[in-house]
Amino acid sequence: MDETPSSTQTASLQWDEHGQPQSEHFGDLYFSRENGLEESEFVFLKHNALADRFASLQPGAHFTIVETGFGTGLNFLNCWRLWASLAPDDATLNFVSIEKYPLQHQAMSRALALWPEHEQRCARLLEQYPPQPWTGTQRLHFQDAGPQVTLTLHFMDIHDAFAQMAASIQSDSAPYPILSQGFSSKTVWVDAWFLDGFAPACNPDMWCDALFLAMRDLSHSASTFATFTAAGAVRRGLISAGFECKKVPGYGRKREMLCGTKAPEAAIATPTATRAPTHNTWLLSDAPPMPRESETIVVGAGIAGAHVAHALACAGQKVTVVDRSGIAAGASGNAQGAVYTKLSDAPDALSRFNLSAQWFAEGFYRDTGLYTRCGAQCGVFHLARNDAEAARYQRLALRFQEDAQGFIQWLSAAQASERAGIVLNQPGLWLPRSGWLDPRRLCQALLDHPNIRFLRADVEQLRYDEARWHLDSDSATLSAERVVLCSAHSTAHFAQCRAFDTQSVRGQVTHLPALPALQSLNTVVCGQGYLAPAHPWEAHPFHCVGASFNLNDDNPDLTIADHQHNLDALGSVHPRVNDALPDASVSLSGRVGFRCTTRDYFPIVGPVPNMEAFIHRYQGLRHNANLNLANAAPVHPGLYVATGLGSRGLAYAPLIASLLTDLVLGRPLSTGTSLYRHLHPARFLIRKLIRQQL
Ligand SMILES: Cc1cc2nc3c(=O)[nH]c(=O)nc-3n(C[C@H](O)[C@H](O)[C@H](O)COP(=O)(O)OP(=O)(O)OC[C@H]3O[C@@H](n4cnc5c(N)ncnc54)[C@H](O)[C@@H]3O)c2cc1C
Ligand SMILES: C[S@@+](CC[C@H](N)C(=O)[O-])C[C@H]1O[C@@H](n2cnc3c(N)ncnc32)[C@H](O)[C@@H]1O
Repeated sequence: MDETPSSTQTASLQWDEHGQPQSEHFGDLYFSRENGLEESEFVFLKHNALADRFASLQPGAHFTIVETGFGTGLNFLNCWRLWASLAPDDATLNFVSIEKYPLQHQAMSRALALWPEHEQRCARLLEQYPPQPWTGTQRLHFQDAGPQVTLTLHFMDIHDAFAQMAASIQSDSAPYPILSQGFSSKTVWVDAWFLDGFAPACNPDMWCDALFLAMRDLSHSASTFATFTAAGAVRRGLISAGFECKKVPGYGRKREMLCGTKAPEAAIATPTATRAPTHNTWLLSDAPPMPRESETIVVGAGIAGAHVAHALACAGQKVTVVDRSGIAAGASGNAQGAVYTKLSDAPDALSRFNLSAQWFAEGFYRDTGLYTRCGAQCGVFHLARNDAEAARYQRLALRFQEDAQGFIQWLSAAQASERAGIVLNQPGLWLPRSGWLDPRRLCQALLDHPNIRFLRADVEQLRYDEARWHLDSDSATLSAERVVLCSAHSTAHFAQCRAFDTQSVRGQVTHLPALPALQSLNTVVCGQGYLAPAHPWEAHPFHCVGASFNLNDDNPDLTIADHQHNLDALGSVHPRVNDALPDASVSLSGRVGFRCTTRDYFPIVGPVPNMEAFIHRYQGLRHNANLNLANAAPVHPGLYVATGLGSRGLAYAPLIASLLTDLVLGRPLSTGTSLYRHLHPARFLIRKLIRQQL
């Protein structure tokens, strides 16, 4: 079952004489005509008592808010402002919002310009807000010095979003198939609800009983809600779902509004909704929650390990990174790599993941200054190598043409040549926010964090004893409560990970001495191969030209055949360079590396299943692929993996590191559950059980 989220359709708006937006579709206002900012503070912040609750949080606490209807983002901006002024420094606000009819940038910018007090926050929101129409879950991350904020946007219908959201509980009365946040039961709770759909009379979908029941299942005993409406049906629905409801005076001319808390369990009426089978309980972990401040060992100091360690460290965790060969000594040791994925507008999970990872990575490298320190945000041009690819790229560019936000643009060969600074004879897709990075510098920069220490050690095996992992290595035994394996194709050598279906794929890059013919190149160009502008920090400047792709080949030495392959590919990218290219048999330098790939092309991210117990628990799948799985999956407590980045490490790693950190800390998932199930380490076991291969 692939839960492809419903697609979105950008909002069509009318603007009144005061510059206030109104939905054409629903005929309703986004916020009060009197003073939208004050109304938002009054209804949602005050009636969820957020000022007191933020101020009294313990250091390191997490606070989760779910809003129905993101609209212009005004509620979020108000909440962020309050959070920044009151919450303790190391606390995290997880703000989740749902939107089926997203505003385009221009409309959002126009609506938010009404509030000059939010000018800076608004600019930061707009920088990360994806181009529309976007489908699926997108994480926006605001890395500030003070209290942390994550914004998770579900661009989909509210019913899909609730099915996506972390219920993290298995309750027989839940109205939706309850999906996991992936960590373990009862770790992700919603602390406050902002119910902000358009008025129930014109938008009943946002106010139905099934949603109120789901809210109940996602709430804890101190969860609160607030909404601008006092409609009887809403009040009755919330009460029968188990909320204590108060009618209080509304904002401005609105007579009344509703707010309340979850009622004590005893008072909850038994819901009558029937529950769909829980095919996805295998995403839930049965391990008991671990204290957030547990120490972590990351095995592997390549792109994956460095990103994971950095994301955990930024979330306040102490991390030890170990690698047998030093920092960026494996596949991540190339001098240049392009930030790119295979882009498509198809609705399949891999295409959605690629778009999401690409957008997230581009923003991450820009906001952290890593493009500047470790490469260049010079744009990447994807040449269309055939008609089918051209059609695919054009469809994608068309989708975002009204709201591209500098993300994607279709260019003719002439336009592309102008951008690239060299002659290109094919049209293609232009990604101006993308660029190239030196993975060696990148890994060093990511690991340079006060919460991270690096050790050189070859980890031979992992043992679990007295609630800790012990890592036997060639130098010493290390131990910690939590371990994340970022050890690429060597991961499957650990006994706990032998079910992972990974392959090692050899690749070679050629270092092409800077040629006069390529001096004017100012972007990365990807076609049969890829070519980046000359590396600026090398004593003898060269271009990294790549890369060959050899299955079933473990030769660690450079080969002339692979140099020739790379030069041929370069010749097809830029025909005029042919004459200037050296002969591959002259001594060219380069580098060989081994990618860790998976057969389904998705990385592997999440808790490591306990294989024997897993097979035993879900053995019924051998005879019935649609079996209702009643129990969460047995996992090795505290053992996680983040690997299988294939040829896309630079683009995939920021998002998977964010997801891994969500799983560890029990935050809402950066990818949503519909993509998480494709990344989950247990997917191989589930598939094999269904195919009776286990
Ligand atoms: C030729 C070539 C060109 C490429 N070009 C690009 C590109 O342009 N753009 C892009 O995004 N990607 C590119 N890639 C892919 C990219 O390099 C990978 O996706 C990325 O490096 C994977 O990072 P990783 O951290 O998972 O693996 P690695 O970098 O291989 O890191 C794994 C680390 O784990 C360590 N380790 C393993 N086992 C143990 C153990 N038992 N104990 C201690 N340490 C251990 C290893 O020493 C190693 O350092 C290319 C790859 C190749 C080979
Ligand atoms: C009153 S507006 C929200 C205002 C917003 N909170 C703000 O701060 O600007 C209601 C929002 O709900 C969205 N919406 C309506 N129906 C929806 C549905 N079925 N699923 C998800 N979102 C929906 C609308 O597109 C609109 O943006």
